[in-house]
Amino acid sequence: MGWFSLIFGVAVSLFFMVVAVSGIGANWGTQATHPLPPDTVVRLLRDNGIQKVKLFDADAGTLNALGKSGVEVMVGIPNDMLSTMASSVKAAQRWVDKNVSSHISGNAVNIRYVAVGNEPFLQTYNGTFLRTTFPALQNIQAALIKAGLGNQVKVTCPLNADVYESSSGLPSGGDFRADIRDLMIAIVKFLSDNGAPFTVNIYPFISLYTDENFPVEYAFFDGNGSPIVDGGTTYTNMFDANHDTLVWALQKNGFGNLPIIVGEIGWPTDGDRNANLVYAQRFNQGFMTHIATGKGTPMRPGPIDAYLFSLIDEDAKSIDPGNFERHWGIFYFDGVPKYQLNLGTTNTGTLVRAKNVQYLSQKWCVMKPSASLDDPQVALSVSYACSLADCTSLGYGTTCGNLDARGNISYAFNSYYQIQNQVDSACKFPNLSMITKTNPSTDNCRFGIMIEPYAASGELRAGCLQKLMAFIVMVALLFFS
Ligand SMILES: *[C@@H]1O[C@H](CO)[C@@H](O)[C@H](O)[C@H]1NC(C)=O
Ligand SMILES: *[C@@H]1O[C@H](CO)[C@@H](O)[C@H](O)[C@H]1NC(C)=O
Ligand SMILES: *[C@@H]1O[C@H](CO)[C@@H](O)[C@H](O)[C@H]1NC(C)=O
Ligand SMILES: *[C@@H]1O[C@H](CO)[C@@H](O)[C@H](O)[C@H]1NC(C)=O
Repeated sequence: MGWFSLIFGVAVSLFFMVVAVSGIGANWGTQATHPLPPDTVVRLLRDNGIQKVKLFDADAGTLNALGKSGVEVMVGIPNDMLSTMASSVKAAQRWVDKNVSSHISGNAVNIRYVAVGNEPFLQTYNGTFLRTTFPALQNIQAALIKAGLGNQVKVTCPLNADVYESSSGLPSGGDFRADIRDLMIAIVKFLSDNGAPFTVNIYPFISLYTDENFPVEYAFFDGNGSPIVDGGTTYTNMFDANHDTLVWALQKNGFGNLPIIVGEIGWPTDGDRNANLVYAQRFNQGFMTHIATGKGTPMRPGPIDAYLFSLIDEDAKSIDPGNFERHWGIFYFDGVPKYQLNLGTTNTGTLVRAKNVQYLSQKWCVMKPSASLDDPQVALSVSYACSLADCTSLGYGTTCGNLDARGNISYAFNSYYQIQNQVDSACKFPNLSMITKTNPSTDNCRFGIMIEPYAASGELRAGCLQKLMAFIVMVALLFFS
């Protein structure tokens, strides 16, 4: 009896430890001018106890690095491939053979999900993917079954929280967005029939960004704002309320038990007045603490399956949504942690930085002291640099928002110079720029040193082309003034 309870007790605690450990995932995006080598990122994941990763494509180099790592993988089909997958069963089969089956059998990659599309029903897409998403989902599911992977690999479709809404403003008023309601119900039924989860991306930051009357405290998990009362339930944070709006929408349509994955959740650190280290730390730590309790949300008690957005900053992402878009990482572009974050997965309770990162030389490109702010070349040069580099840390409320005019110009020049791998020709803004070995960074504003470009063979050639282009443009700037 005693032995039995002891063994049972140990088994139960081991089970919960495993559940707790496998609790958090991360989004690994690669829209960067200088992505870290995939092996470095996989080591970073393991050193930080991150057991699950969500990708936006099925890049072979990335998947090779994940081979035999044990890390659970969600591969992705980008929106621009949806129409092909929708219109051709054969294309879907080729995709599954090449991008799922071969990696599982050839290299022991632990692929568990295929994400078909990425937020395809976003209102800003004007319905572009409305007709292709569901057929693509069906074709990929059929291809997985044909490949014998029907049980092991599940399809899903990461959707933005804008696919549902609430007429009352309360979670209990939740239902799918009127214009896509029938389509959503068909997709949800399909997921349910195939034992597949619903994946949703929830962003309190975006609510705060788009609505200046949004109550800031409600975005966080430890806020002291006024709670929302929904029948007998009190909501003190937006995540729970938004998540449960989805649960109500599912329940109302007969799918109250469909598993939910939180595909993206996070907070950016730069590019907007609300995107900073303090808020990001508070939000992400609050979320980790929230899910560590295993309590779930009022409508869905139990563990929450979630992927942080994101792992590493991506300096080549489109800034259409806003300048914050390049700053979602819990790590900077070089794998350095941004703030103290306890994922509950390491002994130290802190993030571990990436190992063996190779940096370029300690030098920067800045505005020459002798150059004049009135030089007519200034505006042209800065806008050229910013259009090809990353100036999202300049502007109101950002880390470099307090630089003076010369500082601004230097920041733009340096960003361009670093992204161009410090080639001399990238610091030849006519009569305006010079290379320095003195770090121009200020307290808040980091003038970066780039990391070595990751030399996959094709990308090396692209790098040379980039240098040539930089040279040509510099020459052009010199002559067409
Ligand atoms: C596999 O995925 C990659 C990366 O997303 C994509 O470029 C390629 O076209 C896919 N292969 C097939 C056969 O569809
Ligand atoms: C959607 O429509 C708006 C207004 O007509 C347009 O400005 C925008 O470029 C369109 N977006 C896409 C992705 O087609
Ligand atoms: C620096 O650049 C930012 C972004 O372009 C601009 O908003 C700001 O006014 C500039 N500051 C100065 C002092 O020129
Ligand atoms: C650079 O400065 C020199 C001396 O001040 C001047 O003669 C020359 O025209 C300038 N060149 C350009 C491209 O502005």
